[in-house]
Amino acid sequence: MFTWKLVQALLGVALIGLVQETHAQTVPSKDCASGVHAIISRGQGPGNDLSVMKALSDKILDQIPGSTTLGFPFDHDPEDKFTAVSSGALMLQGYVADYVKSCPKSKLALVGYSLGAVLTMEALCGTSSLLLIPVPPLDPSYNTSVIANIVYGDETYVPFQPWNTGNCSVGLGIFPRLNPSSCDPFASSLHSYCDYGDNQCCSPLPDDDNLAHHTYMKKYDQDVVDFIKRRLDS
Ligand SMILES: *[C@@H]1O[C@H](CO)[C@@H](O)[C@H](O)[C@H]1NC(C)=O
Ligand SMILES: *[C@@H]1O[C@H](CO)[C@@H](O)[C@H](O)[C@H]1NC(C)=O
Repeated sequence: MFTWKLVQALLGVALIGLVQETHAQTVPSKDCASGVHAIISRGQGPGNDLSVMKALSDKILDQIPGSTTLGFPFDHDPEDKFTAVSSGALMLQGYVADYVKSCPKSKLALVGYSLGAVLTMEALCGTSSLLLIPVPPLDPSYNTSVIANIVYGDETYVPFQPWNTGNCSVGLGIFPRLNPSSCDPFASSLHSYCDYGDNQCCSPLPDDDNLAHHTYMKKYDQDVVDFIKRRLDS
């Protein structure tokens, strides 16, 4: 009995420690990125916080000197995807605010794939899709620090936006963003990759087993690194 209480108490302390550690983006100034600090949100599923986005993280570290990357520790294997998106979006806004406060001269890139794409777009633009749990947009003043935003296979995709990239010209995401103009403060930094054949961002185009949803990394990771480099130089 006594021992069990002790175990619970120790576990509680350990969990609090873990939460504080993973939620803080307060960075000592010696660790502030002189290249880019990329916060990368993966797609849905179990495993580590980078998963299939590790290759892009490595490319950023290799090709942009002075960079740091973080696999964003949101709930990527959730019971409830809607809550994971809204709480992840709010947490990402908190990470951006904390990072900019501790490293005001550093530049940030936000990158998201699939479920991580949805939460990244929600964090930037706020919610304007029916069914998604409302979150407010990121304060536009962050658009001088956050210099690149890249998403792959975003379920809030809508056609005819200046930031659309990829070959899906007329499809819609399954939770289409009704007011895309709320992304305007970040328009020049935003690239949304959506390809024909991705049922999640480009429905209702012909079903090919959603193959295109899984090929962005291979097809576009290098373009993303080049885009971040151009944005850092501009
Ligand atoms: C930041 O957003 C403001 C308000 O929408 C806009 O006037 C400005 O041009 C944007 N700056 C950049 C660097 O995109
Ligand atoms: C669009 O991209 C997908 C995924 O790479 C590819 O399978 C498809 O052939 C492309 N479609 C067109 C029309 O270019």
